[in-house]
Amino acid sequence: MKHFINLKDIPAKDLRKVIADAKKRKNLRRKLSTLEVDRGSPLKGKILIQMFEKASSRTRISFYLAIKQLGGETLTLRSNELHLGQGGESISDTAKILSTYGDGFMLRTDSEKKINDFKNYLSIPLINGLSPSSHPTQVLSDVFTVEEIKKKSISKLNICWIGDSNNVLDSLIAASVKFSFKLSIGCPKKFEPGKDVRAWVKKNNKKIFIYNDPKKAVIDADVIFSDKVISLNDKVNKKMKIKQFKKFRIDKKLISYAKRDCIFLHCLPRGSEVSDEVFLSKKSHVWQQALNRVHVQKSILLYCFGKLR
Ligand code: CP
Ligand code: NVA
Repeated sequence: MKHFINLKDIPAKDLRKVIADAKKRKNLRRKLSTLEVDRGSPLKGKILIQMFEKASSRTRISFYLAIKQLGGETLTLRSNELHLGQGGESISDTAKILSTYGDGFMLRTDSEKKINDFKNYLSIPLINGLSPSSHPTQVLSDVFTVEEIKKKSISKLNICWIGDSNNVLDSLIAASVKFSFKLSIGCPKKFEPGKDVRAWVKKNNKKIFIYNDPKKAVIDADVIFSDKVISLNDKVNKKMKIKQFKKFRIDKKLISYAKRDCIFLHCLPRGSEVSDEVFLSKKSHVWQQALNRVHVQKSILLYCFGKLR
């Protein structure tokens, strides 16, 4: 049994194995329809319990499809439907119950402590479906998408992030170390990545490049990533933060400083950080990116359940 909580804690060779499996599985089911099960039904009889303390469209639906395509089932809960969410039951008892009924647990939460507590009390795999400092299933899938489109290892590409220093960026930074790719970040000084993540990069003998001028970050980029300036439950003065990011908006002019065949990716949902012109252009592969989450999460589930080929 393996957890999937933060890319930083997962060996690079395991992450590579997940990507390789996803590639094989995606190819093998080209002719299958959405709910047809992969050959061998590898997760037949298994149930993934998902709990969302915050909104989700993609993570929720893509995990539903992922486990279905592996022959298993999913049950989706909102925390306020549980005694836990009403303050009437402890995490330790809830975790024991989840481990009694379920085979895996996926949690989206605003609390890093809750992720850790669940990890300590569960006897089934825990998957982080987004926490304040990590969105690992999204970013591993994004590495897959980049390599699928660019047809080369991500380690040979210049990756650029324009936007807030949030959970998705933290996972992208972790991925830059695990997959050895160059990562340039463009953001206002006030919103640069935090000390902890930078210290972790340094400890791993890696460098990330941070610019407060978006043009400098974008130069020579093969891929530009972005995310909403205001994350779910971001407790900031929203109007002011959006204003502070004004010159970091990704439009046709900014993207023209990147390589000619540069692609644009975004985990969604989007806000005003990207123009429609870029988001809906040929350079943008956001729908393929969203679909790939199904394929990569299938291999993440197999990894967690000890069934990765
Ligand atoms: N990208 C992503 O995680 O989307 P949701 O918030 O809709 O799950
Ligand atoms: N950074 C965003 C990602 C949403 C998928 C958030 O945390 O809301």
